[in-house]
Amino acid sequence: MRAKISFTFIALTSLRLTACQQMPFDAREATIDSVHHALFSGLTTCRDVVSSFLARIEALNDRTNAIITLNPRALDQADVLDESLAAGNATGALFCVPVLLKDNFDTADMPTTAGSLALRNLRPTQDAPSVTALKNAGAVILGKANLHELALEGLSVSSLGGQTINPYDATRTPGGSSGGTGAAVAASFCVFGTGTDTVNSLRSPASANSLFSIRPTRGLVTTSGVVPVSYTQDTIGPIGRSVKDVAVALTVMASTGYDPTYNYSALIPPSMRDIDFAASLTTGTLKDLRLGVLKGFFSTSNSSEVTPVNTAMTTILQTLSSSGATLIPIDEEIYNATAIGAALDVQQYEIRELMDAYLQDPSRVGDIPRTYTDIYTRKSSTNESNNDFLVIPAQYSYVHTALTNSTSSETYIHRQHAIQNLSLSLASTFTRNNLDFLIYPEQKNLVVKLGSPSQAGRNGILAALTGSPVVALPAGFSEPTEEAPVGVPIGMEILGRPWSDEALLKTAWQIEQLMKVRRAPEWALESVEVKEYNAVPEVVPDRGNVDGVYPLGSLGV
Ligand SMILES: *[C@@H]1O[C@H](CO)[C@@H](O)[C@H](O)[C@H]1NC(C)=O
Ligand SMILES: *[C@@H]1O[C@H](CO)[C@@H](O)[C@H](O)[C@H]1NC(C)=O
Ligand SMILES: *[C@@H]1O[C@H](CO)[C@@H](O)[C@H](O)[C@H]1NC(C)=O
Ligand SMILES: *[C@@H]1O[C@H](CO)[C@@H](O)[C@H](O)[C@H]1NC(C)=O
Ligand SMILES: *[C@@H]1O[C@H](CO)[C@@H](O)[C@H](O)[C@H]1NC(C)=O
Ligand SMILES: *[C@@H]1O[C@H](CO)[C@@H](O)[C@H](O)[C@H]1NC(C)=O
Ligand SMILES: *[C@@H]1O[C@H](CO)[C@@H](O)[C@H](O)[C@H]1NC(C)=O
Repeated sequence: MRAKISFTFIALTSLRLTACQQMPFDAREATIDSVHHALFSGLTTCRDVVSSFLARIEALNDRTNAIITLNPRALDQADVLDESLAAGNATGALFCVPVLLKDNFDTADMPTTAGSLALRNLRPTQDAPSVTALKNAGAVILGKANLHELALEGLSVSSLGGQTINPYDATRTPGGSSGGTGAAVAASFCVFGTGTDTVNSLRSPASANSLFSIRPTRGLVTTSGVVPVSYTQDTIGPIGRSVKDVAVALTVMASTGYDPTYNYSALIPPSMRDIDFAASLTTGTLKDLRLGVLKGFFSTSNSSEVTPVNTAMTTILQTLSSSGATLIPIDEEIYNATAIGAALDVQQYEIRELMDAYLQDPSRVGDIPRTYTDIYTRKSSTNESNNDFLVIPAQYSYVHTALTNSTSSETYIHRQHAIQNLSLSLASTFTRNNLDFLIYPEQKNLVVKLGSPSQAGRNGILAALTGSPVVALPAGFSEPTEEAPVGVPIGMEILGRPWSDEALLKTAWQIEQLMKVRRAPEWALESVEVKEYNAVPEVVPDRGNVDGVYPLGSLGV
């Protein structure tokens, strides 16, 4: 897994540096491999790589409003890596790979806001273990991306970050809740980004931005140091422009292994310790693959928002079938994402206790609310007549339940039993039909328009409750229009049994090679001149675009 660069190679590199003009690094659609090729063949420096992404963010962020903060230490970190490079000591699978974190990951470099004005002063004194792992592998943390406030919906609107705009269609949301990461990765503001997923949040932004992501098996990557929502449902993972980048990033994030503060990690099978998920990405056949097609996760209506999804899925399924995969229709009534979510989702019962513990941890300093309830009741520290949070109307009942219920509610205990039953039903479906994976669209309809009440039609709940791994991958686009010059991206999910992450990524890689669906947003193909920065520029999120749309401090009572 470690990239070791020999001394002779570096010596040659230095010769080339003086012999020929350095080319500015082209960040557009860059991959981990393309960054490494440019660095290790002496075409560029780490400072130049980092500067090229900063220049894109500075020039283009107003098209999408994806960024909350840039890391003031990013260029210093690049200089340290350049010293290692010059010393012939460039190690780490992510050596000089620019990464954006969803702004619910702790790093001591920047505040953790979760998009909420109420948390704008929250300063972690420690990195989340997953962030430490990224840094130890050589990644440069460029900054933080916007998300739906506290990661509680899929519209990617927040009181601190405003509304993130879909880079493919400025009238639409970027999915969510990791929508800032999705938009930023689609626009080549970084090589890959991180996200969190309580119901849909690593997959909906991948689907809406023609990207790849993995929601790993629950337990594989510790969620410690990340703003919590649900112990049962939370996972964290990468979002990238290729399966390979996602696999390399997951390998690094999963290297945290067993974490005593995250007891699900005790379930990691010995065979999956220190696994290299990128090693198995090799050509193979789809011939023996048995895919269950979840009929209930498609919409049967015919409309301009639904038909493009069904058309794209039909094309994918036909291609998989003609490549030898066997498709098995699964029409069991239990696979109804709306019904499962309404009956079994447990986040409202878990969030308050987890948030209280997160906010009270002494490693988080600053003038912040110290309880979940305080977020919604404390007046602003700068404006005594103001509250500092945003709740969209569709979330009112969620917050009310969260403020009054807990894990000792009878409903919670009942739901946990039903989740065990659902997990058993899912395993039975796999076994009875001898399936490798399930396949279905991430969202039954196109990603919703700005100002919509919720991100309707998503199918993420099945994996979220059962802890199953899913890879999200591009499935197609709607027809191009004036608003969406390359069309609106459409994504699909491939779901495996728990701990099948490696096989899942391998199959996703083969499908990626076969279909080659991903395209960049039109404006993001614009080339941006690389600047010589003396310091990391400041980027201020545009929260003006939510003023008047969602009143701050409203709980709908
Ligand atoms: C090489 O880099 C590693 C990681 O940054 C560091 O721990 C080590 O001391 C370096 N070795 C040399 C010889 O510079
Ligand atoms: C696992 O951790 C959660 C959250 O801290 C806790 O509620 C639960 O009791 C723990 N379970 C076991 C078996 O340790
Ligand atoms: C969907 O609606 C369009 C326009 O009304 C129609 O032309 C098309 O035949 C319908 N398709 C199906 C599958 O019903
Ligand atoms: C799925 O469940 C929802 C909510 O319970 C219900 O309204 C809908 O009719 C169901 N869909 C199907 C196809 O049964
Ligand atoms: C404080 O908040 C209120 C309500 O949003 C607003 O009308 C007022 O202008 C704010 N005052 C300052 C000093 O920002
Ligand atoms: C749970 O929350 C709902 C919605 O706010 C409320 O009606 C109910 O009384 C609460 N249950 C308990 C046990 O507090
Ligand atoms: C468990 O699942 C089965 C089959 O999916 C269903 O028929 C049954 O009603 C469920 N039982 C409970 C207690 O949820």
